[in-house]
Amino acid sequence: MKIIVCENYDEMSLKGAEIVKEQVNSKPDCILGLATGSTPVGLYACLSEMNKKGDVDFSKVTSFNLDEYYPISPENDQSYRYFMNENLFSKINIDIEKTHVPNGMAEDPEKACKEYDESILAAGGIDLQILGIGQNGHIAFNEPDDELYEGTHLTGLTESTIKANSRFFEKEEDVPTKAVTMGIGSIMRAKKIIILANGPAKLDIVTKLINGGITTNIPASILKVHPDVTMICTRDAYPEN
Ligand code: F6R
Repeated sequence: MKIIVCENYDEMSLKGAEIVKEQVNSKPDCILGLATGSTPVGLYACLSEMNKKGDVDFSKVTSFNLDEYYPISPENDQSYRYFMNENLFSKINIDIEKTHVPNGMAEDPEKACKEYDESILAAGGIDLQILGIGQNGHIAFNEPDDELYEGTHLTGLTESTIKANSRFFEKEEDVPTKAVTMGIGSIMRAKKIIILANGPAKLDIVTKLINGGITTNIPASILKVHPDVTMICTRDAYPEN
């Protein structure tokens, strides 16, 4: 895993956005894997700026998001579809029909998950996957457990994730307890991955990730066996030794 340490959030966001820009410029019809959460907001703002200036064109890009709460409607302002529309899709020239977020309202989630994986495969697989990391080491909503799942699936969220995400809701009880998430296989099949981590709240997990072994207790640790992963983190999320 390659590691880039940045002085602050803005530098981390710009570094990440430059990698996305290079990807899109070298393959205009590429497939991007996208994340939500607070970490990539700055990266998305940089991409909007770059798109406005004409430095990158998203018109042929297809995107697949990592996850969505369940059950939740796409119009709900806490849904990840809403988040993506607000923070990125409405600000760049991507064709909204080519953007995919797991269906948080699926009547048959198992079938919808299978179809989501099939659409990723049919599109040719993810060229560049953007990831954040949970304080407990989750990627997407693949939570620490005895086993990890390969494909997209419906999962329960751990107490620690519900607590961490409660900052976006009025009260903790409002945080959905389930989500549809890409599996570890869907993520690991991406040709290139960038994982972003910023702030002191991520220092402990980044330290464990860098210094520890590969374990299902830290789902992000599986990334160590991927051939093309770059971690971009701020100095306050990076262990000095
Ligand atoms: C979001 C996602 C999650 C977040 C992680 C970190 O699509 O897949 O794994 O990346 O929970 O969230 P933030 O960035 O809010 O710290």
